[in-house]
Amino acid sequence: MNAPALTDSQQAALLQAARAARLKAYAPYSKFLVGAAVLDDQGRIHAGCNVENAAYPQGVCAEASALSAMVLAGSTQARAVLVVGTGGAWITPCGGCRQKLREFCAPDTPILSANTEALGPRYTLAQLLPESFGPDHLHPQ
Ligand code: THU
Repeated sequence: MNAPALTDSQQAALLQAARAARLKAYAPYSKFLVGAAVLDDQGRIHAGCNVENAAYPQGVCAEASALSAMVLAGSTQARAVLVVGTGGAWITPCGGCRQKLREFCAPDTPILSANTEALGPRYTLAQLLPESFGPDHLHPQ
């Protein structure tokens, strides 16, 4: 079954939430602020920002932080994801975050990129992480 279309107002709300979260990022080492927002299956939006650490590998990406907020709020299904970085470039989730998103997204879940000025390209999870490993491999039907 195809994912329901993302409405303009949902897209605008995701962009606003991700931008607001980005401004809360703790990124004193890279100075690269990232905000992410996830729309869940109940129509709610959960935001996250990157949180770096002096022990560099312990930092957390914005997408992981947004997914934690979604799970905490009681949902395990993402309907859309938006990520906004710093500078003009459109960013997409890093490799590790693509796998984290895989847990809670369908193959056709839209992953939107934005910068601080505008919305950018749109992908699906399957485009960003083809032939992926997921929960169904551990628990085949
Ligand atoms: N970062 C994210 O939060 N999400 C991504 O998808 C790419 C990278 C963060 C990690 C680190 O705090 C900073 O951006 C620079 O890599």
